[in-house]
Amino acid sequence: VKVGIFDSGIGGITVLSSLQARFPNVEYIYLGDTANLPYGTKSPSQVVKLSLACAETLRMKGVDAVVVACNTASSLALHELRQALGPIRVYGVVEPGVQAVLDCVAQEPAGFTSLPILVLATRATVRSEAYGRALRAALDIGRHPIFEQPCPLLVPMIEEGWTEHPILKATVDEYVSRFRDAHPRGIALLGCTHYPWVQASVERALPGWTVVNSAQAISRALEEQLKPVQNNQNQIMPGKLEWIFTDPDALPAFARQLIGKEVSRG
Ligand code: DGL
Repeated sequence: VKVGIFDSGIGGITVLSSLQARFPNVEYIYLGDTANLPYGTKSPSQVVKLSLACAETLRMKGVDAVVVACNTASSLALHELRQALGPIRVYGVVEPGVQAVLDCVAQEPAGFTSLPILVLATRATVRSEAYGRALRAALDIGRHPIFEQPCPLLVPMIEEGWTEHPILKATVDEYVSRFRDAHPRGIALLGCTHYPWVQASVERALPGWTVVNSAQAISRALEEQLKPVQNNQNQIMPGKLEWIFTDPDALPAFARQLIGKEVSRG
């Protein structure tokens, strides 16, 4: 079984790692659309168009499933992707993100009131209201006020490799400080697959809060399709992994190191 994963850049690697940990025997193809990054500042129709092009590249590679490892594309293009890919199953990251929040809420002692949920995401994801809608449908909003904060400066910094840079830390602080000042505790959802790269900085900026991301829950969504493959004793060899980037020259040094040399131009 071949699983195709795509993102605008290196964000989806956080999703890939989580899937590889759960399903190591599966073959993966990772596509980063670095030539068109970022998606999060583009219009819905542009995001749909770019996402369909990524899906087509993966379809041509003969994948059996596509994981949209980008919250912006999952929020704006999931329906179009499912239509275009027909029998190939398409999985988004918004539902697993919501699931990660629900898992966290379920661990709260009963009777805790007003534990806020803060979604940090790209501007396009926040505008799409995909998270707001899904969280409001799943949670008691009297008990869990929901806030959404666009963080448009984070993706370019992460793609630049500034994951530990003081400017990144100051920017994270600027985005979340008013929530920290108003609420001593809460749940922050990293609603962009790039943000787990800087999860430690978000945790430092929100002491007392729990920080979750969609990569944590994604493997559950693929369990039904991939578990039989994983459990097939005739197939117990580690799956292959292919990297494709639409602009490989745009990769930051840390990602290049992580990936190794075998990157093809998509
Ligand atoms: N990693 C993506 C997301 O989850 C997209 C970031 C971007 O390209 O703006 O939203």
